[in-house]
Amino acid sequence: MEKFLICFILGLLCLKYNSYAQSVQYSAINCRKHSAVLTDFGGKGDGKTLNTAAFKAAIANLSKVAADGGAQLIVPPGKWLTGSFNLISQFTLYIHKEAVILGSQDETDYPLIDPLPSYGRGRDVVGKRFASLISGTNLTDVVITGGNGTIDGQGDIWWKKFKANKLNNTRPYLIEIMNSNQVQISNLTMLNSPSWHVHPVYCKNVIVDGLTIIAPVDVPNTDGINPDSCTNTRIRDCYIVSGDDCIAVKSGWDEYGIRFGMPTQHLSIKRLTCISPDSAVIALGSEMSGGIQDVRAEDITAINSQSGVRIKTAPGRGAYVKDIYVKNFKMYTMKYAFWMAGNYNSHPDLGFDPKALPVIQNINYRDMVGKNVSIAGNLAGIQGDPFTGICISNVTINLASKSMDPSKKSKVQPWNCTDIAGTSSRVSPQPCDLLAEKQPGKSVDCAFPVDTLPIDNVELKTCNVNV
Ligand SMILES: *[C@@H]1O[C@H](CO)[C@@H](O)[C@H](O)[C@H]1NC(C)=O
Ligand SMILES: *[C@@H]1O[C@H](CO)[C@@H](O)[C@H](O)[C@H]1NC(C)=O
Ligand SMILES: *[C@@H]1O[C@H](CO)[C@@H](O)[C@H](O)[C@H]1NC(C)=O
Ligand SMILES: *[C@@H]1O[C@H](CO)[C@@H](O)[C@H](O)[C@H]1NC(C)=O
Ligand SMILES: *[C@@H]1O[C@H](CO)[C@@H](O)[C@H](O)[C@H]1NC(C)=O
Ligand SMILES: *[C@@H]1O[C@H](CO)[C@@H](O)[C@H](O)[C@H]1NC(C)=O
Ligand SMILES: *[C@@H]1O[C@H](CO)[C@@H](O)[C@H](O)[C@H]1NC(C)=O
Ligand SMILES: *[C@@H]1O[C@H](CO)[C@@H](O)[C@H](O)[C@H]1NC(C)=O
Repeated sequence: MEKFLICFILGLLCLKYNSYAQSVQYSAINCRKHSAVLTDFGGKGDGKTLNTAAFKAAIANLSKVAADGGAQLIVPPGKWLTGSFNLISQFTLYIHKEAVILGSQDETDYPLIDPLPSYGRGRDVVGKRFASLISGTNLTDVVITGGNGTIDGQGDIWWKKFKANKLNNTRPYLIEIMNSNQVQISNLTMLNSPSWHVHPVYCKNVIVDGLTIIAPVDVPNTDGINPDSCTNTRIRDCYIVSGDDCIAVKSGWDEYGIRFGMPTQHLSIKRLTCISPDSAVIALGSEMSGGIQDVRAEDITAINSQSGVRIKTAPGRGAYVKDIYVKNFKMYTMKYAFWMAGNYNSHPDLGFDPKALPVIQNINYRDMVGKNVSIAGNLAGIQGDPFTGICISNVTINLASKSMDPSKKSKVQPWNCTDIAGTSSRVSPQPCDLLAEKQPGKSVDCAFPVDTLPIDNVELKTCNVNV
């Protein structure tokens, strides 16, 4: 209205100004030939009108032309309340910087879908799953981006129901892209998901870039980004504050994950800042039953988090976590810098095989500093199934200063290691004996790959959108 009025007064001059001001550039794996705006399909950005039908109509309309050079849907400035909707191939959802997509708080706006085959059941409760707010299945070339536009899951009602055991089905995620190739999720702010925020599952060639993800630190399972049974993923420049892990790398749950057998592999994470007082900066597991291999993480900053890198597994989970490489990691105020737990016994049902022992091997941590850390390392493998090939080098951890009152002297040891094997070099405080230097006095660097992954080399194109 405002714009219309100004244009009415200023006439042609304004038209020229407008067409200049409204063309915005963004980076994407592919640009799109066709474009539509949500308001063309009856969308109302008043924060109250439900726009599920408008999203669906717009995407159905664009699906007729997407095969011809791709299509993009622009979500313009406004507050767009919606239930769950599905994306299509060769498609970009562009969320304007002044646009907020609001997740409906009505369960009936989220259709029920089957549990993931690699999990066997809903993660929250036995039963079905609510479809994610923004979903995509079996797609090729799909982009969700914007000039830092917002997706707000309005999750408080879901968190309350979950805590009160009032859910008969598993909570929706904010975004779930399943069984898809060439996926980009970038330059967005995501708030208050009912559960996980970004869940690529059974995907290949995934780019996650420039996300700000924020949920209250005391709400359940609001993980930031969960690559799950995905191959070739790059995560860059994300800032995450969460009630659960900032990044949780997964690959299915116990006997279901073992049967499905799809690992997460070739994952690169760079420039992550994380605040997660009750969870990990990067968790590997606990659902790792399809295997986790070749994870590279560097330039990570953690503030006020429970643990840096955490491996979560147990007998029954099977598979492996191997070839993990982490470097340049700064930690400020942490309970544990390093944490490995072989007793993370949270099983889907009684059908798991206690003899399915996970193999944890070739885990490399280097070039790290920690300040105000309570415990340097709590590293517990599995009796009879030690975690091996653990390497820690060039790591300096300043432990939280203890109380001045000697009667309150802490009995906590900086390292507590059981059922593990490995080595260390230039680590302070001096690690446990199971990680003793193999060649005392000789400086050794733990491994970090020098090659690049195929996904590291994907270059984004500069696209234009008239908003
Ligand atoms: C995100 O936005 C920044 C500028 O704000 C830009 O440099 C970058 O290319 C964008 N990334 C993607 C993946 O769109
Ligand atoms: C939907 O697509 C058709 C053909 O592609 C087009 O003619 C029509 O205007 C579109 N509908 C709306 C509401 O934009
Ligand atoms: C995805 O593809 C699988 C296998 O081809 C098929 O069974 C399933 O119905 C498809 N799902 C959707 C939502 O298209
Ligand atoms: C995106 O928006 C969030 C929330 O307003 C803000 O904290 C963040 O700095 C913004 N990111 C960029 C790259 O502008
Ligand atoms: C959940 O299931 C119980 C028992 O079948 C039923 O009484 C209750 O109404 C259901 N709750 C919801 C929110 O559907
Ligand atoms: C150090 O960590 C403790 C929690 O263990 C916290 O209460 C305190 O504020 C931190 N100190 C600084 C200087 O960050
Ligand atoms: C040791 O780690 C620090 C970062 O904590 C890094 O700046 C430094 O270059 C590393 N030293 C060597 C010899 O790699
Ligand atoms: C060390 O770890 C073992 C195995 O996890 C545990 O039983 C023990 O209580 C821990 N010791 C200390 C001093 O924390």
